[in-house]
Amino acid sequence: MHSFNDLLAQFSDFFQTQKFPATPAALYDPCEYFLGIGGKRIRPVCCLMGNELFGNLHPDVWNVAMAIELFHNFTLIHDDIMDKSDLRRGKVTVHKKYGEETAVLSGDVMLIIAYTYLNKIDTSLLHQTLTLFNKTATEVCEGQQYDMDFEKRADVKLSEYIEMITLKTSVLLAASLSMGAFLGGASNTSCEKIYEFGKNLGIGFQVQDDYLDAYGNPDKFGKVVGGDILRNKKTFLMLYALENANPTQKQELEMLLQTNGDDKVQRVLDIFEQVGVKDWALDLKKHYNDKALHALDEIVVTNGRKEPLRDLTFQLLSRDV
Ligand code: IPE
Ligand code: IPE
Ligand code: MG
Ligand code: MG
Ligand code: MG
Repeated sequence: MHSFNDLLAQFSDFFQTQKFPATPAALYDPCEYFLGIGGKRIRPVCCLMGNELFGNLHPDVWNVAMAIELFHNFTLIHDDIMDKSDLRRGKVTVHKKYGEETAVLSGDVMLIIAYTYLNKIDTSLLHQTLTLFNKTATEVCEGQQYDMDFEKRADVKLSEYIEMITLKTSVLLAASLSMGAFLGGASNTSCEKIYEFGKNLGIGFQVQDDYLDAYGNPDKFGKVVGGDILRNKKTFLMLYALENANPTQKQELEMLLQTNGDDKVQRVLDIFEQVGVKDWALDLKKHYNDKALHALDEIVVTNGRKEPLRDLTFQLLSRDV
């Protein structure tokens, strides 16, 4: 059994040996750039952890973990175009550095190379892995579409937000764990349980992402703080504020959603503060963390094997990166 950090080190060793083709440089340099500026590598390590929960690491797990990390990075390159984000991982985003046309195509090729890695796995494992991979990728697109649709709506319900973040973020964490478990020989029931664990972990993960977008330390978090506020994203912070504001605050918030003035972020943050969103953020994260841990409890393997996943759950709850 290995800790998150041990598996991260092992994955990083493998990852560093993998290279994109040299030419055309205008296509592949942005790919190298983006993968070179870091990232926490949570999803591929989750795949390894899901695998190790049931046995020794399977030789094919590296290819699946690689496919997952490439897919994730592809979504980020396109997400940054969609969200008009200039900064990620403390560095300038691909489309800002190389232009939007290049960013679209470099993202596309990264996705295709992700499938090339998947295609390397043993044929007896490929069909089921690919089925879940494709289901997940489709759901991520659906979640991203809801995320954008919600920018234009002021009546988004909390249940719709949870559904949206489940699709855009948490299913990929869930699938990473579950694909790893499948390669580890886990039963269907165990694969479903670990998927359930990952789904709830992923909801808590996106809640924390939304929290950090408003309250993170930009030097650590590496993105423009207040980016979601500027884009009128219907994060749980905004939904809670719209729901709990008094009539004066609500009017101001609705007015701020129509504008993009210099003081927008600060004024929205002031209202967030007044209605007490921070306390509620803690409750929300705890709720999904508890659900995740409950699903983990139900997996039938010796308790000690679950320790790395429990540790990860607690680390993600209070992450600031
Ligand atoms: C960012 O994911 C996108 C979300 C789903 C919130 P991460 O925070 O895992 O991004 P990196 O890969 O570590 O930069
Ligand atoms: C991104 O959500 C989810 C995907 C890329 C699928 P966000 O838009 O909140 O992610 P960040 O904050 O830009 O990393
Ligand atoms: Mg987005
Ligand atoms: Mg974004
Ligand atoms: Mg975000």
